[in-house]
Amino acid sequence: MTTACGIDFGTSNSSIGVCDAGRPRLLPIQRGETSVPTALFFSFEDNSTTFGHEALDRYFVREHGRYLRAIKSVLGTKLFEETTQTKLRRYAFGEIIAAFLRFLRIAAAQSLGEPPTSVVLGRPAFFVDDDPKADAAAERQLEAAARGAGFEQIAFQFEPIAAALDYEQSVNTEEIALVADIGGGTSDFSIVRVSPERARSSDRRRDILGFTGVHIGGTDFDRQLGLARVMPSLGLRSPLRRKGLEAPSWYFFDLATWHRINFLYDSKVLTEVRAVLRDAAEPEKIERLLRVLEHRKGHELLAGIEAAKIDLSRTDLALLKLDDGVADISLKITRAELEAAMSDSLQRIRSRINDLLRMAGLTSDSVSAVFLTGGATRMPSVRKSIAAAVPTARLIEGDALGSVATGLALDAARRFASTCRI
Ligand SMILES: Nc1ncnc2c1ncn2[C@@H]1O[C@H](COP(=O)(O)OP(=O)(O)OP(=O)(O)O)[C@@H](O)[C@H]1O
Ligand SMILES: [Mg+2]
Repeated sequence: MTTACGIDFGTSNSSIGVCDAGRPRLLPIQRGETSVPTALFFSFEDNSTTFGHEALDRYFVREHGRYLRAIKSVLGTKLFEETTQTKLRRYAFGEIIAAFLRFLRIAAAQSLGEPPTSVVLGRPAFFVDDDPKADAAAERQLEAAARGAGFEQIAFQFEPIAAALDYEQSVNTEEIALVADIGGGTSDFSIVRVSPERARSSDRRRDILGFTGVHIGGTDFDRQLGLARVMPSLGLRSPLRRKGLEAPSWYFFDLATWHRINFLYDSKVLTEVRAVLRDAAEPEKIERLLRVLEHRKGHELLAGIEAAKIDLSRTDLALLKLDDGVADISLKITRAELEAAMSDSLQRIRSRINDLLRMAGLTSDSVSAVFLTGGATRMPSVRKSIAAAVPTARLIEGDALGSVATGLALDAARRFASTCRI
């Protein structure tokens, strides 16, 4: 008998769920926690590879090495073909994702007594927007990584459908619900007919009235806030002495994008930035950029921006202070500034829900509940955009980080029931 699990491999955080006698539960992965950062650290000091919280700790104590975040964002893109240099060798992104999934599988074995061999992996409605070929490639890349991690039976379920399965556990009447899962990389939506009776049926295709998604998530909000409020202090739009020229903007775009930061630490890029510094009309800004790159502080800077964004979910004013002699930044950021920086994304989220209602042939008032999951649904502006599309529905807060893995565990139990111990 083998064991089946559901894995929510998230852009920012990952979780694993299993079912015991039909009841889903999340497994502790590290330090007793059921959700861990999707992060790896390749140490250049002891050549070890660490994952999750441990990877975060090693990076933040300034151990020398390579830190990786948002690796899911690379699936289906050209970057997937690139490799990452560690002290001993270069790793392909496929191997890096496989290593992270193996870490999750081994963590599951600690609770289950043996490593699971079957998995339902969550996937967003679209890994890549408007490119079905790239999207299919992304799923194949993730499947190959799961195989590399030791899984033998691999199935996929859409993340917003998994979240709906979790929500359905708590309903006691039949209703039409909009499930909104806005995470680190994607915004995923489903419209589902849920009821306690329907929850017992194994074929739910007719109850899924529609689902869709768009490549917008918390990591985009970090980038948008970073570009609007922080990167100008490091030279974004800063003039060069040659008339009419500015410092190249792609440095700042990469520095504000979780999965691109490491490319800036390349020696060729550092040489280029030093040349820009010699020509800079505001050298103190480019010097700051250079210090951040030389000290490999890009992730720390972006983590500071992310923390300010998270603070702004509960206050109107956040302080971003990095005064360690490298970035030397102290900025006050208001919620209104964050919302202005992300206004296009908010508009796209709202119009994607309107498209979904249209595709499902529903009016907004036929949706009676909105189930919110994913860390970014904690943002007042995101909630407002969702509520604007379905103004009469009541908002229900799900488990922001656990709903998808719980739903995937329910799905795994259903799919692998005949072959697995579940
Ligand atoms: N209170 C909060 N306010 C604003 N943003 C938050 C809050 N809590 C978490 N986030 C953001 O939520 C995102 C992570 O959410 P989550 O763990 O649901 O994503 P994920 O599942 O890893 O990503 P995806 O599903 O898109 O692959 C991060 O961008 C994080 O900054
Ligand atoms: Mg998610």
